Amino acid sequence: MSDVKKPWGGRFREKNHPLFEKMNRSLPFDIRMYKEDIKLNSAYSKELNRIGVINDVELKEILEGLKIVEKEIERGGLSVFDSEVEDIHMGVETLLAQKIGDSARKMHTGKSRNDQVATDMRMYLLKEIEVILELIKAFQKEIVLLAESRVGDPMPGFTHLRQAQPVLFSHYMMSFFFSIQRDYERLSDLKKRVSIMPLGSAALAGSAFPLNRENLMKELGFDKICENSMDGASSRDFVLEFLSDISILSITLSKFAEDFIIFSSEAYNFFELSDKVTTGSSIMPNKKNPDSLELTRGKTGRLIGNMVALFTLLKSLPSTYNKDLQEDKDPLFDTIDTIKEVLEVNSILLQTIEVKTENMLNSIDSLSFATELADYLAKNNLPFREAHRIVGAIVGDCLDKGIFLKDLKESDLEAYCSLFRGIGDKWSDISSIISKRNLFGGTGVESVKKQIEYAKKIVVN
Ligand code: ARG
Repeated sequence: MSDVKKPWGGRFREKNHPLFEKMNRSLPFDIRMYKEDIKLNSAYSKELNRIGVINDVELKEILEGLKIVEKEIERGGLSVFDSEVEDIHMGVETLLAQKIGDSARKMHTGKSRNDQVATDMRMYLLKEIEVILELIKAFQKEIVLLAESRVGDPMPGFTHLRQAQPVLFSHYMMSFFFSIQRDYERLSDLKKRVSIMPLGSAALAGSAFPLNRENLMKELGFDKICENSMDGASSRDFVLEFLSDISILSITLSKFAEDFIIFSSEAYNFFELSDKVTTGSSIMPNKKNPDSLELTRGKTGRLIGNMVALFTLLKSLPSTYNKDLQEDKDPLFDTIDTIKEVLEVNSILLQTIEVKTENMLNSIDSLSFATELADYLAKNNLPFREAHRIVGAIVGDCLDKGIFLKDLKESDLEAYCSLFRGIGDKWSDISSIISKRNLFGGTGVESVKKQIEYAKKIVVN
């Protein structure tokens, strides 16, 4: 007996095996595109009406029926569909047919699920990119607020996770802002490559009906129409690009997470994370663990995994549609959900964090002022390499004698090199060290204020 419930059942004599039917079914995950699918079908039906495939009465039935179907899915989710329904495209049509009868079956004239799914995905992703961009901005705002609230407070700056030179805490925070800004721009730039409409490509060869694709493009909110139906119905590089862009963003966030895990630990105590984003231990009553940051760091693996999954899926796939492409959705949807959650939680983390700039200041090791001394000699005409060697010897002596570099007076320094004359006993004042770096992009207060000013213009828009 042919499988009458399947849209393609006509040429089949036997039903699908239930195990394969389950494997083949994408409805449980592609149901989330129901709004896009309904919007597409509405626009498409209007076009079918314009070219005479559907009369005015049928169009009215379809458009009103689709609205009811949308409400039904909104309320009931997966439960409104029969278990045989393969995907959201068949699902919408089947529900519509249950309401309005046969005219629903005309809606698929001249289109294929191949161009339909590609169009739905692009619409869905465009919508989600906007949401993600807003969440990135919200996170950036929290960064700027924190930086601004303590614009002149110093902290140790690290390379190799070893104290290097003092910087301003605000400068450190703003380093994340600018890194994330590039992630934002990358994602924003992607929109123009997502906003290309495949509809009209049909299965691969283009529709045989005289559709006006300009009309469809405008109705559905796309910027462009894909130029080639074989490419349009099957290309997924826009998903690859999205997953790559989010992976890069997650690298930025994982660095942020790693730093804040370290800096909020007992050993540093630069930050106190709020109870809102930490957990305790089931055995050790004393513990407060930075799980939100650890999960942020951990989810990077998942996001990169999704990207690699799609690269692997697409590699060497023959031209145009292959069912493999149905597997593009899980990684895409999972990445969307994951990054939204990560961004939202980290905004809360920054909103509720206690910043202990006193501890930051007290932890600064004055050996990290050594470059200051070498710079002083270089400014007095000593070749920098020579200056470096002399200060290196001073550092070595401090370590041997157990004294602090910052406590050396002008006279102590002069014993190593006469060019230190005039440096003054206050050479190690941290604010004056930092204020020397007011060049564009440096850690001086004036420079950081400019960064904040610039950032505010970006995040306020
Ligand atoms: N559920 C399918 C997908 O996600 C829709 C396209 C089906 N096309 C086909 N030729 N079987 O890819």
